[in-house]
Amino acid sequence: MNNFIFSRKNIHIDRGDGVYLYTPDGTAYLDLGASYACVPVGHNHPDVISSIQNQLEKLSYVQGSFPVTIRDDFHEKLIEISPGDIQNIWLCNSGTEANEAAIKFARHATKRSQIISTKQAFHGRTLGALSATWKPTYKKGFGPLTPDFDFATFGDVESLVDTISEETAAVIVEPIQGEGGVNLPPPGYLQEVRKITEEVGAAMILDEIQTGLGRTGSFWTCNQDNIVPDILTSAKGLANGLPIGATFCKDWIANDPGNHGGTFSGGPVICAAGNATIDVIQRENLSNNASKLGSYIIKELEGAIGDQTRDIRGSGLLIGIQVKHGSGPILNKLASNHGILALPAGKTVVRLLPPLTIDKTHAEDFISAITQILEETS
Ligand SMILES: Cc1ncc(COP(=O)(O)O)c(C=O)c1O
Repeated sequence: MNNFIFSRKNIHIDRGDGVYLYTPDGTAYLDLGASYACVPVGHNHPDVISSIQNQLEKLSYVQGSFPVTIRDDFHEKLIEISPGDIQNIWLCNSGTEANEAAIKFARHATKRSQIISTKQAFHGRTLGALSATWKPTYKKGFGPLTPDFDFATFGDVESLVDTISEETAAVIVEPIQGEGGVNLPPPGYLQEVRKITEEVGAAMILDEIQTGLGRTGSFWTCNQDNIVPDILTSAKGLANGLPIGATFCKDWIANDPGNHGGTFSGGPVICAAGNATIDVIQRENLSNNASKLGSYIIKELEGAIGDQTRDIRGSGLLIGIQVKHGSGPILNKLASNHGILALPAGKTVVRLLPPLTIDKTHAEDFISAITQILEETS
């Protein structure tokens, strides 16, 4: 028993280049899952590689309390892209850790304990973040979880109003639920969450771990709603595949965060990767590409397979295709017959989270493959 957690896929990966992964014998796979959104600028982007290599030759690691230029540069870049005037960033190693810190900071700064999450949410798997995650199968056998977590219905303002009070430390929410099925809230929902949390003095934690970095057509999805959360979390592709998490905090949170820490916070190599990743996203205007290609894919899919699916939804390059039966056989056929990797989101949704660098030919390859598969199985 080597890796007892992940199931082992039957595609052995040897190397990556742009939007493709390759097996040792050179077979190419179009990677439309980007290993869960972890390579927004594509596999092995030359700028990211050279930034990492340069930093590795200088200094691979020093503890976070020693100032290092590359980390200072990364902080500056993160502040530049942060929503509103957020100036404070805690760096860590994963999305789970970023949310764990967010929950701790919110509790400490508000001196309250209740955390409200949403049904179908996914916020991670450590005990605090897991307590904010909805799906019972992720929690089974790990209890007792962290107390004082409640769930409101996602997208439903009334449900939040019924759950929140002046005892609430924070509301944690994804702008679009990714793992939960690519669920979009009704327009104006995030603005209402912002208003309601402000009214009771609770922190709004926006989990942009899957939606951020340009994926939905703006650097953060909240930019489109013109709101600034008290805390925003990011991770996944922020260092284009190296482990990272970031918790962005407004001053009132950062001024009273409690005692938190972590050995690998802001490691220089990770910061080098993050700097190059953000540069590429900005220079190549990848949020614009995500917006244009995402609309194109959804429109084309609706025309080609709309009547064979229950729903096709998404924003930018976060797309969910809800099929009539299981997503598993479709994903298997995409990989084995068409050399295309996509992801599930629950049992009936085929999810796309591709590198933001894909072009129209990649989109067309996917559209024709899924059309053919659904025709064969109908
Ligand atoms: C919205 C969201 N939050 C948190 C996480 C957890 O991130 P990680 O797997 O890096 O711990 C994920 C991972 O899928 C996610 O999609």
